[in-house]
Amino acid sequence: MIGKIFLLATAALMVPVQAEAQRADPRPAYHFAPKRNWMNDPNGLVYFEGEYHLFYQYNPHGDRWGHMSWGHAVSRDLVSWQELPVAIPETADVMAFSGSAVIDWKNSSGFGRGGKPPMIAIYTGHNPKARLQSQYLAYSNDRGRSWTVHGEVLSVGSSEFRDPKIFWHEPTKSWVMIAVMALENRALFFTSPDLKQWTFASSFGPAGGKGRNWECPDLNLLPVEGGKPGEQRWVLSVNLGDQAVGGGSGGQYFVGDFDGRRFTPVDGWGGDPVWTDYGADFYAAVAWNDLPRDDPRRIWIGWANDWRYAEAIPTYPSRGIMTVPRTISLRNTAHGYRLTQRPVRELEALRGTAQVRQQFHLGDAPVALPVDGGAIDLKADLAWSAAEQASITLTDGEGYQTVIGVNPTVNEVFVDRSRSGPHFHDGFANRHVAPVDLSKGKVSLRLLVDESIVELFINDGEQTITDRFFRASGPLRWSASARGGTATMDVTAWPIRQEVPH
Ligand code: FRU
Repeated sequence: MIGKIFLLATAALMVPVQAEAQRADPRPAYHFAPKRNWMNDPNGLVYFEGEYHLFYQYNPHGDRWGHMSWGHAVSRDLVSWQELPVAIPETADVMAFSGSAVIDWKNSSGFGRGGKPPMIAIYTGHNPKARLQSQYLAYSNDRGRSWTVHGEVLSVGSSEFRDPKIFWHEPTKSWVMIAVMALENRALFFTSPDLKQWTFASSFGPAGGKGRNWECPDLNLLPVEGGKPGEQRWVLSVNLGDQAVGGGSGGQYFVGDFDGRRFTPVDGWGGDPVWTDYGADFYAAVAWNDLPRDDPRRIWIGWANDWRYAEAIPTYPSRGIMTVPRTISLRNTAHGYRLTQRPVRELEALRGTAQVRQQFHLGDAPVALPVDGGAIDLKADLAWSAAEQASITLTDGEGYQTVIGVNPTVNEVFVDRSRSGPHFHDGFANRHVAPVDLSKGKVSLRLLVDESIVELFINDGEQTITDRFFRASGPLRWSASARGGTATMDVTAWPIRQEVPH
């Protein structure tokens, strides 16, 4: 720590003097993080005129939750982001909570100018004095740079009605909104001809994982890989504020049908929750609207954090990062439909020359992997006949370790961060496991490491584990080993180079 005094001042507010300022930690190379201050959920994901927009829950005045406003960043390739000024600030009474954005191509709202379609955001206005959460509309006629708040467009008189996701439903030629009644663990569906007048259509839930609240719903029509030709299914994703698989907040999903008004899960869904990710740090993921017509992908991005310790994570001067954008689809498996997530292919363009392409024979003694740097894209094909565990260990300069590996006898893939850095919160030091069929004696792992985050994609996106980790100091050393038998590991590792400053 550097014993310097920092004065953080803004025109709107003076933040108390921080007696001791922290050392700035390494910025992620290819994950979006604002330059400073607090960030949570992704909001208003929309593509327009060559730019992917990433709005997000942002506190312009500090590095803890508060003063919620929409921050803004844009990218031309989904992986290099440019941070722009705050898009929608809080007002005296109303904070701008989570929501979504669309391009109103036909100008159904009437907010277009000069023959150009407006960008429309619908978000939750959180009014603590009135104890009300209701949905607000704002529009932009200059590619999201400046916004006019039109005002409230939907209220049901509740203090826990939030996180509207809007999209165009072509078969019914109608706008659709899904928002949660958070404490009731319900998702409500509304329809509209013009984004201003909304009519209640149906309600879904409680179902699957229940908890203190449901948040940030989304609904996406996804292709079924290996299904009937052209098969698609609707996937309703809902986040759970607590009691999710990673220990705190997390995401679940339901697969089913949607007729423009009502979501109906396929048989067998709605009992035990089906999780989107098995780590602790994947929350509030939502998908982009209006991707180019010639791009058939559905792509979403999540906030890499857990509400249990989100305000305590030891990062400075910003707190909160996004995952990489992930292409999502479904697979029809022995357990039914399952979500598949893969890092967007644009990430591969940032790979430098491979540092290693080699097979390693693993046993008890750790083998050093010639991987260098904190921003790495690594593929590891693991095979074994009798090992109880095979793993990759990241060790920092002070001996703290984050371990990523497999336990074949119990069909588990894990990320263990129980000794990954100095203690800062009781909920953090944990091991997270994903159930994976390892009975064939092999698994393929793709590991995205970026300074303080690991995103693990198992068997080409069949399961994922997303975890932050906070090392003490020094570079990371990579090694691998096997226990209770031997294993082989084919490794390819690329450094990720980010040319564009962000
Ligand atoms: C989810 C959430 C949303 C809310 C926002 C407020 O993380 O609690 O439900 O709109 O954050 O910042």
